[in-house]
Amino acid sequence: RDTALFCLEEVDSTNRFAKEKAPECGKLMACALRQTAGRGRLGRHWVSPEGNLYVSFAYENTMPPERLAPVTLAVALAVCDTLADFDVPASIKWPNDIYIKGKKVCGILVETVCRGERIPYIVAGIGINVNQREFPAEVENRAVSLWNVTGKESDRAEIAWRLKKQMDRRMAQFMEKGFAAMREEYMQHSLLTGREVTASVPHTVCGICIGVSETGDLLLEAGGKRIPVTFGEVTGR
Ligand code: BTN
Repeated sequence: RDTALFCLEEVDSTNRFAKEKAPECGKLMACALRQTAGRGRLGRHWVSPEGNLYVSFAYENTMPPERLAPVTLAVALAVCDTLADFDVPASIKWPNDIYIKGKKVCGILVETVCRGERIPYIVAGIGINVNQREFPAEVENRAVSLWNVTGKESDRAEIAWRLKKQMDRRMAQFMEKGFAAMREEYMQHSLLTGREVTASVPHTVCGICIGVSETGDLLLEAGGKRIPVTFGEVTGR
């Protein structure tokens, strides 16, 4: 089935919209010029002024729920692939923040549509800072836009279209072969590998990051032991 396309001027959240539409449309892509209630990870708000890219994709899910967790890593890889298409090299801070020169350029929020035990649809929301020139003082040293790194305006439609191609490719690869098939490529973009990392959820662990496992866990090494981190927030030094 073809992808249903939605281009909206304003919406509360493209993720919320895509979750609502997925059961009726199946595969879909929803973009908005701005969001009034953009959602971030861990219940945070994603400030969404005009000028940046806000897009969500819905895909039919064929993976059993227990193998689905690393899908967010596949989405991160699709974003890196897309930025590379525009000659902008980027890194991934596990699990799925996209960084350029130590600052965050893109956030990803993957949500699921559930029917009892089944997960028929996956919604992947992607916010890329594109043409925003200035950030509020409190995030200025952590956020960056493509405008900041390239010094020019980018065409959001062109980026969105490229992103769709890369998403289709990575999601097909993920549904067919799982994260293990792209682990090495993910590792090539990994910002934390070799660094001292602190994971704070569910409890605090500290170690040197040695990479990512085939199931998408972040692997830390401390006191001669290997510690897998499955979920949550990590900070690197
Ligand atoms: C994060 O880093 O916390 C994730 C941010 C994800 C933001 C995008 S913007 C498009 C899509 N719609 C939303 O409401 N959120 C995601």
